Amino acid sequence: MGCSALSTKQERRFPDDFLFGTATAAYQIEGGWNADDKGESIWDHLTHNNPTVIKDLSNGDITADTYNNYKRDVEMMRELGLDAYRFSLSWSRILPNGLTNKVSEAGFAFYNNYIDEMVKYGITPMVTLYHWDLPQKLQDLGGLANPLFPEWYEDYARVVFEQFGDRVKHWITFNEPREICYEGYDAGRNAPQVNATGIGSYLCAKNLVMAHARAYHAYKNDFAPSQGGVCGITICVNWVAPLTDSEEDRFEAELSRQGQWGLYAEPIFSEEGGFPKELSERVAQRSIEQGYPRSRMPEFTDEEKAFVKGAADFFGVNHYTTFLISATEKFSEHAFSDFETENHYLDEWPKSASDWLNLAPNSVLNALTHLKEKYNNPVIYITENGWSTRHDAGLIDDDRIRYYRAALENVLDALDAGVNLKGYMAWSLMDNFEWFAGYTERFGLYEVDFEDPARTRTPKKSAFVYKQIIKKRVIDHEYEPSSMTMTIDEGH
Ligand code: BGC
Repeated sequence: MGCSALSTKQERRFPDDFLFGTATAAYQIEGGWNADDKGESIWDHLTHNNPTVIKDLSNGDITADTYNNYKRDVEMMRELGLDAYRFSLSWSRILPNGLTNKVSEAGFAFYNNYIDEMVKYGITPMVTLYHWDLPQKLQDLGGLANPLFPEWYEDYARVVFEQFGDRVKHWITFNEPREICYEGYDAGRNAPQVNATGIGSYLCAKNLVMAHARAYHAYKNDFAPSQGGVCGITICVNWVAPLTDSEEDRFEAELSRQGQWGLYAEPIFSEEGGFPKELSERVAQRSIEQGYPRSRMPEFTDEEKAFVKGAADFFGVNHYTTFLISATEKFSEHAFSDFETENHYLDEWPKSASDWLNLAPNSVLNALTHLKEKYNNPVIYITENGWSTRHDAGLIDDDRIRYYRAALENVLDALDAGVNLKGYMAWSLMDNFEWFAGYTERFGLYEVDFEDPARTRTPKKSAFVYKQIIKKRVIDHEYEPSSMTMTIDEGH
């Protein structure tokens, strides 16, 4: 009786065919770093040779040990009632030397088993080919700064499409180009820690975009006709807004957007093709002032532009937070940096365990509507979105629940606004190796006991809330799990 008053309020529903999932990445969950004939990756290399760069001196040698626990992972997907699961392949597990002269049967077997287990229970695999773990042998040759990189990447992609494409219909070529190129080949932060400020990221950007387009065309020409899947790229699109309404701040925020994601999105998704205009102009002008004979940013030939333009079936968006940009406050030590400015946050935004991650209002909605307008309403999947808590925060993660509910309300707002959004992957299925933070920051819906050799996984409160949203296709802000015992519902 008491409910009848409430039921007059229209409940907003997620479409039945909207894909709800979770995401992970190979180096962060697999372990088995040298199992069978797996080759070394740049993250194995960095953490083994320079362990003090990781906050708790840890590494991904074993991490959640998915290499041995993959069946439990799929069981968790079934417990949650997931429609889809996004994970990445370790290139050097499949091609130990990075090149196709040697393939690993053990690597094929591991991924075949993982995929088969998902498919058996009706879970759609969404596969990322590259989530930061380049084979070290290719890095020895310059990695993504080598102009041959697009060729090596296409060769790898073909092996993968051939091997797994009968069951995998959603392909993502790269995860987060900015974090690969800017952090890895420019600022010297991410592996391979190349410090080539103002040069490395642009070389890498062009090679990455060309590699993506080569893999995309290989797929569309030679595999999609028989396999019938789609291929896109995942770019980190945090919302970047001006700190004040001044023209200078607005311009700097636009430049920051161009540097953070436009550099990779524009050549593929814009009408014009090529690198973003204002950023290209700024880099060209600064390069001359700095005494270079030409711009530090390479150009695309007309032929290359045409090859890359439109080369994606969807835009994968990783979204976490909002940054506010000011024209006057810049990192002084980044004098060469053409776009990175100090990121501001408002004090009232709730803080996570990660210093860069805050809960800003309408963050997801602002990013998605911007992409809709800018790139002619592309098909979008949110391929990551999530919240960190401290390693000792326990299972009652109400702040993560608040974050997910806010983000998913924004997903509904975006659908209402006509954004062509087809799915949402929560980061992450379980706690894992959080790069430089090691195991000190946790993003999982399931807690993993890293002290336990069995790497036991236990659902957090957020897992029950996410499960309920997926099942009911609505966000019930009042819902509280009646117990912390997880079961698999019928049909999963
Ligand atoms: C990356 C993940 C990472 C997450 C949280 C994303 O940028 O793709 O690998 O764990 O952010 O930091």
